[in-house]
Amino acid sequence: LNTVMHAQKAVDISTISEKTLSSILEQNRTYYTQGKVADYIPELGKMDANAIAFSVVGKNGKVFNTGDVHKKFTMQSISKIIALMIAVNEKGEANVFDKMGYFGSDKPFNHFSNLETTGKPLNPMMNAGAILTTSLISGEGEKPFLKILDMVRYITKNQALDYNKSVYESEKSTGHRNRGMFYLMKNNGLISGNEDQLDNYFKQCSIELTAEDLAKIGYFFANQCVRFDGDSTYKNVEVARLVESQMLTAGMYEFSGEYSRMVGLPSKSGVGGGITVSVPGKMGIGVFSPSLDQHGNSLAGYHMILDLVKQYNLSLF
Ligand code: DON
Repeated sequence: LNTVMHAQKAVDISTISEKTLSSILEQNRTYYTQGKVADYIPELGKMDANAIAFSVVGKNGKVFNTGDVHKKFTMQSISKIIALMIAVNEKGEANVFDKMGYFGSDKPFNHFSNLETTGKPLNPMMNAGAILTTSLISGEGEKPFLKILDMVRYITKNQALDYNKSVYESEKSTGHRNRGMFYLMKNNGLISGNEDQLDNYFKQCSIELTAEDLAKIGYFFANQCVRFDGDSTYKNVEVARLVESQMLTAGMYEFSGEYSRMVGLPSKSGVGGGITVSVPGKMGIGVFSPSLDQHGNSLAGYHMILDLVKQYNLSLF
């Protein structure tokens, strides 16, 4: 572990500007050469490896952007926090976590983990738990997916958001591991529906957005589920605590423990190259760079977050 040199005292976050972000972005731009764009979903392999964007939504919902902020990418696993919020709002936390754990993991996101032993997924952030979570959202056919899409549109106030059909088709036709998990959980009595429920998971992963949208999602959970413009329709302290605690424990997969030492903030990554970060009570951060490390986390994205966190002493600890 490299020495972590954070600023020693709180630095006023209102001094963050687009200039701050662009200088951090430039310092980290070349990290993409050290990672790899995800290609296990063939359509993802077509992404432009050197695209990079950095966005912050700070006090009073003020937005700061730099880089390729209009570049869209798929949210992938970041959709899991939205699905968790909806499932818990509908079913209650106890009923959802009766079927899965609050555990962290030392295994990759697509690992079967203890589906074969206790029968239950470790947490709602790994694929198994996320597939199960989405299956718990009520409604026939694609209704659960549409609820997730609507919630992402609401949080980002971006009605034009939609899912990428070719990424969805690509996930559906190659996602045999996910299909295996789905049927094992069905065998274990945790899932009762048909493969439409798995399709909803593939669709939610294929929702396209920008780094700015991710920063707004981070802001939402950082602020008790209040939107960046102050709308408090979904305000819920406990749901925000739950989602943030899962992000901290398992949001960066098996890297989560080391990440919490280095960054110290609830964060969620996706293999599309996005990461959303919640700075509780303060702000949201969204980054994008599609080149990933061996855990499936954006490499340049991680380093941009780390630099901002060090500079402004944003770690919780
Ligand atoms: O199910 C999958 O494999 C992808 N749709 C999502 C995985 C993902 O984003 C994991 N991320 N780091």
